[in-house]
Amino acid sequence: MTLPLVIDTDPGIDDALALILAARAPEARLLAVSVSYGNTTLDRATRNARLALARANCQVPVFPGSDRPLARPLVTAKETHGSEGFGDLDTPPPEPVAPTGTSILDALRAAGEPVTLVTLGPLTNLALALRNDPAFLRSRVVRHVAMGGNIAAAGNSGGLAEFNVWCDPEAAAEVLAAEMGTELVGLDVTRRLVITAPGVERLANHPDPEAQWFGRLLSFYVRFHHHFEGLPGAVINDPLAVALALRPRWGRAETLRLTVNCAQGAGRGETTVGLPSDPPVRVYRDVDIAPVHALLLQHLFGAWLTVSDFRP
Ligand code: BDR
Ligand code: CA
Repeated sequence: MTLPLVIDTDPGIDDALALILAARAPEARLLAVSVSYGNTTLDRATRNARLALARANCQVPVFPGSDRPLARPLVTAKETHGSEGFGDLDTPPPEPVAPTGTSILDALRAAGEPVTLVTLGPLTNLALALRNDPAFLRSRVVRHVAMGGNIAAAGNSGGLAEFNVWCDPEAAAEVLAAEMGTELVGLDVTRRLVITAPGVERLANHPDPEAQWFGRLLSFYVRFHHHFEGLPGAVINDPLAVALALRPRWGRAETLRLTVNCAQGAGRGETTVGLPSDPPVRVYRDVDIAPVHALLLQHLFGAWLTVSDFRP
């Protein structure tokens, strides 16, 4: 039995790794991709999604979605992912894309069967799908795994906020309030998934062009983490959400009642344990990281790296 998947994503360096992992893992069947603004603009994210899928020889439909948050101005993550969203890689100019509010619904229709939905970016596209056709959405999404939120570590967008929720807190609040059984893979868990700076250097300097592609993609991410966090490596968040979609038993989740802080200023985007009236959300609190390393070596880096390249 393979796991049918639809991914909503904002590539993004770690999104690219997650897409390639989902496309290559034989236990998954990636059926369609929906794209969000986030790490970069919608046109660049759409181009980057197509580039990542092409690298995995994966021909699935790609649906551009929203180009901005529900109610706030667009802010992208140039300093984290580079001006094109793909670090140091050379990329062709993006094609213009028409934003839509239906990319997840379109992807679910293209998938043609009930799926696990993995969201790797801001939750705008999912909030719009819930507004537009909640019955169809709920009939097709048997499980929703989201990279997003943070309750127990330093944030990456000011205070305790995690970027995907920070981008569009109103969308995140709407999605959690819909009680779809969302499972959050937050920054406090993904911070454990690190690829080391020497590992990335080895990729970048390897004669194999595929290793160089990954190395150039990740070098920028390593510089960012070194500069802003003093980390000798890069946290690769999004592949962990795909790994837990494939193997839920690698993680331990707890049901918590979560509040999303929709403030304009300080506290924006923070996810905190709230009141009994807040929606119940499955939140991963811990993960077995060794099998995730093995999965990444098996499908992405095994020809060039070893398990020690994932130890912080
Ligand atoms: C999340 O934000 C982006 O920078 C990453 O792609 C990941 O989805 C981590 O906060
Ligand atoms: Ca992402």
